[in-house]
Amino acid sequence: MGAAQVEEDKGEECEIFKNSKMMATALTAREFRNALGQFATGVTVVTVEREPGSIFGMTANAFTSVSLNPMLILVCVDERARILPMLHKRRRFGISVLKQSQQGVSEYFAQPEQDAEAERRLALRYRWTPEGVPVLEDAVAQLSCSVVATHVAGDHTIIVGKVEDAEIQGGEPLLFFRGEYRHIARQ
Ligand SMILES: Cc1cc2nc3c(=O)[nH]c(=O)nc-3n(C[C@H](O)[C@H](O)[C@H](O)COP(=O)(O)O)c2cc1C
Repeated sequence: MGAAQVEEDKGEECEIFKNSKMMATALTAREFRNALGQFATGVTVVTVEREPGSIFGMTANAFTSVSLNPMLILVCVDERARILPMLHKRRRFGISVLKQSQQGVSEYFAQPEQDAEAERRLALRYRWTPEGVPVLEDAVAQLSCSVVATHVAGDHTIIVGKVEDAEIQGGEPLLFFRGEYRHIARQ
């Protein structure tokens, strides 16, 4: 390998080093969000019975499977989110995996106002699972969960749910990537 080649390699290494943020500068919240935004996710709506017969939902993409035996999932909920005390109280919740046509539904459950008129405009309908958990009627899949553990982690609470029932309707899912909604494309 010639000297010129060595110089070139060094330069490249420095560039990678800088880009990977390994220098001793503190990671900012913006950089953290940008880095995590590189991980593509689906979009779910967490639903809970707020009062008898009344349903509250929150859009969440911090959702993942946890365990097969027992069948567990988790969702991370902001400490300030209004749904958090409802989850602690009810101990049961639904997860609806949104379809690619449901960006409006995702936006609706990510904003503060939830009212019957807006839900009519979005043609939102709920159904109750045999376990008495509300889920969105129209979704790629719906899970009925009971809260088995909660862990405070920084400014979020990790809600661990035991999956008691699951239904798959199919269809293409809505994706979230780099802060934007995306759709799946076939190879
Ligand atoms: C695509 C998307 C994903 C989100 N994921 C989460 C999440 O996983 N956990 C969470 O607490 N909030 C999440 N949010 C924010 C909540 O939907 C909601 O806006 C926020 O908790 C405000 O709730 P509040 O109206 O009760 O204050 C997400 C929002 C969007 C648009």
